[in-house]
This record gives sequence, structure tokens and C-alpha cells, in this order.
Amino acid sequence: MARIAVVGPGAIGGTIAAELSRGGVHELVVCARTPFERLEVETPTGPLVATPRVLLDPAEASPVDWVLVATKAYDHAATALWLKPLFGEGTRIAILQNGVEHVARFSPYVPASSLLPVVVSCPAGRSAPGRIRLRRQAALRVPDTADGRAFAALFSRSEVVVTTVADFMSELWRKLCLNCAGAVSAILMQPAAPSKRAGIAQLMRDLASECRAVANAEGASLGDDAVDDAVASYLRGAPDAINSLHADRLAGRPMEIDARNGVVVRLGAKHGIPTPLNKAVVALLEAVSA
Ligand SMILES: NC(=O)c1ccc[n+]([C@@H]2O[C@H](COP(=O)([O-])OP(=O)(O)OC[C@H]3O[C@@H](n4cnc5c(N)ncnc54)[C@H](OP(=O)(O)O)[C@@H]3O)[C@@H](O)[C@H]2O)c1
Repeated sequence: MARIAVVGPGAIGGTIAAELSRGGVHELVVCARTPFERLEVETPTGPLVATPRVLLDPAEASPVDWVLVATKAYDHAATALWLKPLFGEGTRIAILQNGVEHVARFSPYVPASSLLPVVVSCPAGRSAPGRIRLRRQAALRVPDTADGRAFAALFSRSEVVVTTVADFMSELWRKLCLNCAGAVSAILMQPAAPSKRAGIAQLMRDLASECRAVANAEGASLGDDAVDDAVASYLRGAPDAINSLHADRLAGRPMEIDARNGVVVRLGAKHGIPTPLNKAVVALLEAVSA
């Protein structure tokens, strides 16, 4: 049993909180911005309903063993208001977000040694507060460290697959190769389908290739397969699958432009690696969200 706080009960946080409630083994609290009565998650194996304790004000929070952060990357400052009261002796903080800067994003607020970056493969969408549809079994990947293994153990009663990975840096960047190419769907406002067009598939390949070059300069070790896999993933995606960048644009929410494409441009510049396509994507997405 662990005391767990999930901050940000959206598509990912709501799914993960509901999964952690299976078996009633943990003392679970959900830290939300918008109130909801219960979590209803439509999973591939059937409906999952959970009624965790919901907090709406950081002043109500107290220290826990684990904090699982599942807010958007750009909400880090507001999220940090929860971290202070939730943090106590031995608290570990798992960051379930996209991008490659999980630790850098939160280390201004909490000790970097308490942070555990998590790669999230959990295609989920939220139709209303607390109501989520999970398209495929949720999978999380964490570094193969003591904290990574302790995090995986939290999910022993759930249907979430948690894998520990030795070369976690490459894992983070592998996911970014996929995500940076997904910007095309958000620009076109079309789900996975456009990747079936040869020109669009090539554009996605070129975006991911820029990312791969930056990844390897940063110390990752990615081969051509990272780019091939990214494009193949969109090619075999369900025709109506909507990635979270696209979902944000549809809902009129801010988009994680910097975490998914801007970072490729910024870190590319640091290494003198040209990233003109990611730069173009950033300019286009910033223009449509202005
Ligand atoms: N969805 C996917 O399929 C998917 C897949 C892989 C990775 N990811 C990544 O996972 C992360 C979370 O994405 P998501 O799709 O779950 O986003 P989301 O559905 O927008 O959920 C974000 C949640 O954070 C809440 N929030 C924002 N500020 C808060 C605050 N100060 N205190 C408490 N809660 C706060 C939001 O509250 P409101 O209810 O008020 O909006 C919302 O419930 C992102 O980095 C995303 O890129 C998503």
C-alpha cells in the first residue's frame, strides 16, 4: 500500500488514477483544477469506475509517498503549487508527460533526485471531466533504477504495463521522434489518415529524422528504426485516432508546441544541427494558436 497523489486527472491522470484504484490497495487522492464526481474510464477490457478523494486546493494536501504528475507540460508552474504540500520525507515524484525535459521542467521546484521521468503510451481522450476513453492498454516506461522499479510495483493490481528500461534517454527521444511528427495532424486537423499520403509520410519521416539527429547529439543512441517506427506507427494508427496535440487544438486549449517540437529546435541550435522542418511546424502551430 502506498499513499499516492495524482495531479491532473485528465485523459492520462484520470486513466492512471482509475487503474491505481483497482483492488483498493492504495490510499489515493486526486488533485484537480476542475471538480468531478467520479472517474469513468472506458477501457479496452470494459468500463472502469473509481471514486478517489478529490482535492481542489493545494492547502488541503498533505505529504504522500508518490506524486504522479499528469498535467500538460506548459502547466508546470501551476502544478508546482501542489508539489510543496504533497512533498515530505521520501516522497518521489513521477512525471507522466511528453517531451524529453521532465526533470529539467520540475527541478526548479523540487529536488531533482526525487523526480522520475515516465514515457507514456496511453492513447486516451477525455470527453468531460472524469470521463475518459482509453483506446489501447496503457503502457508506461521508466528508468531501470530503484525508483523505477518501485514505481512499477505500484501498478501490480492494475492493467497498466510498466516496463523498466536501461537506456532511458534513448527511450525518451524515441517517443519524441513519434510525437514531433504528430504535429502534422494538428496542423491539418486530421487524425492519422494523412500519413497514408506519400508526401505527408515523407514530411513525418523528415521531422522525425531531425529529432533523431538532435537525440544522438544529446547522448541518445537512436538508429534509423526510431524514424521508421514513428512513421509506421502513424500508418497503422486507427483512422480516427487523435493525438493529444491535435485534441488540444480541437478543444481550443494551449498546445504542447515547445515540449514536442520547440525542444528539437532549441537543442538542435545548441549542437549546430539544422531543424528547419520542426522550426516551420512551431511557427505554424504558434500562428494558429495565436
Ligand atoms: N492523451 C494522450 O493520449 C496522451 C498520450 C501520451 C502522452 N500524453 C501526455 O500526457 C500529459 C497529459 O496529457 P493529457 O492528454 O492527460 O492532458 P489533459 O487531458 O488536458 O489533462 C491535463 C489535466 O491537468 C489538469 N490541470 C491543469 N492544471 C492543473 C492544476 N494546476 N492543478 C490540477 N490539475 C491541473 C487539467 O485540468 P482541467 O480538467 O481543468 O482541464 C486536466 O485535468 C501531456 O504531457 C501529454 O502530452 C498524452
